[in-house]
Amino acid sequence: MGLKAAVIGSAFAALARTAAAAQPGAAEPVPAPMRDLVWGRLNFLHTTDTHGWHAGHLQEPQYSADWGDYVSFAHHMREKADRDGVDLLLVDTGDRVEGNGLYDASSPKGEYYYDIYRQQDVDIICSGNHELYIASTADGEHRYTVPNFKENYIASNLDYIDPESGEKTPLAQRYRKFQTKNQKLDVVAFGFLFDFTGNANNTVVQPVRETVREPWFQTAIREETDVFVVIGHVGVQMLEFKIIFRAIRKANPLTPILFFGGHVHIRDATTYDARSFAVASGRYFETIGWMSIDGELERKALSTDTNFSFTRRYIDNNLLGLHYHTGLDANTFPTEHGRNVSAMITSARSALDLDYAFGCAPQTFWLSRAPYPGDDSIFTWLEKDVLPDIAVNPARADVPRLVIFNTGAIRFDIFQGPFTRDATFIVSPFLSKMVYIPDVPYAVARKVIGLLNNAGKIVAESGSESGSGPSFPRDPRFMANPEQLVIHESVIHELPVSNAANGGPLLDTDFQQKPLGDDGAKPTGQRPRLTEGYTTHDDIGRDGDDTVHQPVNFYVVPNCVQAEVGLPPAVEGKENQGGDFPEKVDLVFLDFITPLVLVALKFAGGGDYTEGDVKLYVEGTFTELMAGWIEENWPKTC
Ligand SMILES: *[C@@H]1O[C@H](CO)[C@@H](O)[C@H](O)[C@H]1NC(C)=O
Ligand SMILES: *[C@@H]1O[C@H](CO)[C@@H](O)[C@H](O)[C@H]1NC(C)=O
Ligand SMILES: *[C@@H]1O[C@H](CO)[C@@H](O)[C@H](O)[C@H]1NC(C)=O
Repeated sequence: MGLKAAVIGSAFAALARTAAAAQPGAAEPVPAPMRDLVWGRLNFLHTTDTHGWHAGHLQEPQYSADWGDYVSFAHHMREKADRDGVDLLLVDTGDRVEGNGLYDASSPKGEYYYDIYRQQDVDIICSGNHELYIASTADGEHRYTVPNFKENYIASNLDYIDPESGEKTPLAQRYRKFQTKNQKLDVVAFGFLFDFTGNANNTVVQPVRETVREPWFQTAIREETDVFVVIGHVGVQMLEFKIIFRAIRKANPLTPILFFGGHVHIRDATTYDARSFAVASGRYFETIGWMSIDGELERKALSTDTNFSFTRRYIDNNLLGLHYHTGLDANTFPTEHGRNVSAMITSARSALDLDYAFGCAPQTFWLSRAPYPGDDSIFTWLEKDVLPDIAVNPARADVPRLVIFNTGAIRFDIFQGPFTRDATFIVSPFLSKMVYIPDVPYAVARKVIGLLNNAGKIVAESGSESGSGPSFPRDPRFMANPEQLVIHESVIHELPVSNAANGGPLLDTDFQQKPLGDDGAKPTGQRPRLTEGYTTHDDIGRDGDDTVHQPVNFYVVPNCVQAEVGLPPAVEGKENQGGDFPEKVDLVFLDFITPLVLVALKFAGGGDYTEGDVKLYVEGTFTELMAGWIEENWPKTC
């Protein structure tokens, strides 16, 4: 099914027409069958890895609600909590920045983002790694987001170094103890970042295993509380959360512990024991996570007999879904504040000229939803069309070259239609430049791509874990997108798509159908078709997504791809050696992977190349070069 919303029975179509998405020009939201939220006594809404997508997905109807809609949504959900005498808390686990024009297109970056983001009342918030790669981004966090959220911002293992005094202080308080509004439940909350080492030198990340030994932490976990809430920019399956869980559980055998994670860009949930629950809520503001806990939460009631029940939902950021969960409609849903925030976003997008089109994409190019190599793969397009044209250095024009591109440098699909300024930041938000090592023996250079694509294996064979030999970074897969970590480890390969020829599978008749806004009544006539989207299978089960979807296929892509320029075409099954092949080539790559390329060269028998051998190949960032290529090669208008 394409990007256009399918018409699903007359009741649905009527609804779709009346529900305008918040940003002008955004795709109309799509109706779909829904699963309800299950409320408990303590309830949470969770965002993570929003990466600047606060305007929503203008080209994808399933996720086209914006931050203003989320402000309205949270308002109505809090009102419901107040009416029912339960509590609702909002959580955000970082990577709010980098990855969308709304953040990246201004100079300095984030000129509009900080004021837009702060309009949401987030109760517990922490930093991700993307807040820390560049010193000025970490400064922005220190100067704006931390004061904007005051006591709600928690930095359990993160320090900030003042550029003037050189003084190191916690970026925010280490933990937070507070009472919920309606039930006066005591909450002790922490805010962690995984053991990140790529941060700029104005911050310090303490490894989690050290933090849990700190006296302040040991005191905090002995505070009297009804529940512990650990938020973190950490995947829920990652060791860091397990270490924190074990430390808290050791001191509190019975208290419930709730975890909110992120970083891995997936919908995921798990339990560490019967009294704990952990949720991760996807990426790019596609998902608003939901968690609830029910049971006798007051600690005076705590005994080995008290049982808690937990639920989770992954809410598609779809305006119709937000209406559905609040029981409201296009007229009653938006609050004045929410409308104001949507208006702030519209004017920021317009000031940044984010809708300016460099050209018209003739087709959709997928990051991982089409097989690589293949005509619909963004990496095949880069390898065949773009890299040979943009990796050009006039002074080296006669030298054949291998151009290596790490796939993690592309973050999102390119949709058929206008390729806008916004899209440049969405597709490639980084400032990576193309660098090169001149005159590398071809026999050595040709081995580099294979080594990079088997980097995990290199680590194992080099014995670098035990300290000998050259070492790859602890997780060499960071060359690819974080989603690939999961794709590699599970079976999202090629899910069967039944009935695809009919435009998608029909609804299972056993499924309790609750069409959006239709109050559970089945539409007459044909049964609705499903839209493509998340069909999450986590440790809890297969019922996590709030919207019933037809599955999307995901494919594994390698760490790196390579364009060969000025070399004879590769012959299937033959070693590209001798014959017409040059003795030496220029090895061109993105500066981001320099350390890995140097190690790979050493493994390839190239001896000791150093950073000193690496020179700039082309002026400008890869993103600028790609936009320039599109301007020259794609039609200006659609
Ligand atoms: C951090 O790095 C910058 C730029 O490389 C350098 O000028 C500065 O002295 C460094 N600061 C510290 C505290 O090491
Ligand atoms: C809690 O669960 C256990 C095991 O299922 C059960 O035996 C016990 O009766 C439950 N306690 C309450 C208070 O429901
Ligand atoms: C919304 O914006 C209007 C116009 O700027 C302002 O008067 C009003 O106070 C704002 N309302 C809220 C709830 O933010």
